[in-house]
Amino acid sequence: SAATLDGSADFTAKEIGEQAAGARTLVDSLAPSIHNGQLLRELGVPAASRVRLVACGSSAYAAQAIANTLACAGIPAHTVTASEHALAVAEPGTLTMAISQSGETADVLTALEAWRDPVLAITNNAQSTLARGADAVLGLGCGPEIGVAATKSFTAQVIAGAAVALSLAAAHQRLDAGRLGDFERLLRGIPDRLAATSREAAAPAAAVGAELAAEPGWIFVSRGTGVPFALEGALKLKELSYRWTEALPAGELKHGPIALIQPGTPVVLVQAEPVARLAVNAREMAARGARIITVGRGEDAVLPVALPGEQAPWGPVESVVALQHLARETARHLGHDVDRPRNLAKSVTVE
Ligand code: G6P
Repeated sequence: SAATLDGSADFTAKEIGEQAAGARTLVDSLAPSIHNGQLLRELGVPAASRVRLVACGSSAYAAQAIANTLACAGIPAHTVTASEHALAVAEPGTLTMAISQSGETADVLTALEAWRDPVLAITNNAQSTLARGADAVLGLGCGPEIGVAATKSFTAQVIAGAAVALSLAAAHQRLDAGRLGDFERLLRGIPDRLAATSREAAAPAAAVGAELAAEPGWIFVSRGTGVPFALEGALKLKELSYRWTEALPAGELKHGPIALIQPGTPVVLVQAEPVARLAVNAREMAARGARIITVGRGEDAVLPVALPGEQAPWGPVESVVALQHLARETARHLGHDVDRPRNLAKSVTVE
């Protein structure tokens, strides 16, 4: 049941393990309605020509992956950090997508007061303040998340948002039927790939966590659609293990952050298609003594991820499962309470 461990060591472990099943339920309910924009009609969402995404924390990284999905269909989308909404420009014909696990994050609720656009709430709590105030609600349905650091809600947000993004693309006829079909197939494959990744990456993540737990600073890099997942992986490690992390597009390393690399510095490389350019960055950092932890597929992968081998517009969401295991195992090695990290709250109801 929801609030019992059912044999898991902690709620974070339990919830990491629940992701595949949650993703399955969501994909089964959403994927059949993507075609012809049917999902938009079911939700009561207008076929807007541009999208603003607003969120905080992990939800803001899910928002970035959703924005990337919209971008692949040529639909202008940008992510607003909720606490920084004052700088956002209002444009007519915008749909606002508010992404919040709890639906109670004060910064998100306040940001929505600033705009007049229709609001689609993507939330794990259909009774929340956000859900009650929104014009349309898409529930994540992944069950209560007890661990303070988001896990299963993150993957569910990416899936739910990607389904809406593809529906908008379909409604605007921005993708030909073949590509739309390919993306639907990739979406339907996520649950199995999340399950496979959790099985395969857990033990290697424990080994890396045990070996590198004492390292004070970690760098997370990716490219393109992988960047939001590098950011989320870095946030997870920060939250659970209290390690300093940098997360950035790999191409930016040479403009400063590479100065941080010393012999042994852990560099977590989140693979995204096309992988060749990342391999060049890995060699540059290895030459300076970095300890490269490749998260992806192929022989170099330290943390194996079941990736589809073709480019999904929302990016390598499967890699997050491996990164969650890495953060949790590192924290456990350090003796931290992974479910209740210091200084953090599950839902931040003050601005
Ligand atoms: C808190 C939690 C984070 C979460 C963020 C946004 O800071 O500790 O894990 O990502 O709030 O929460 P929300 O409920 O809006 O997704």
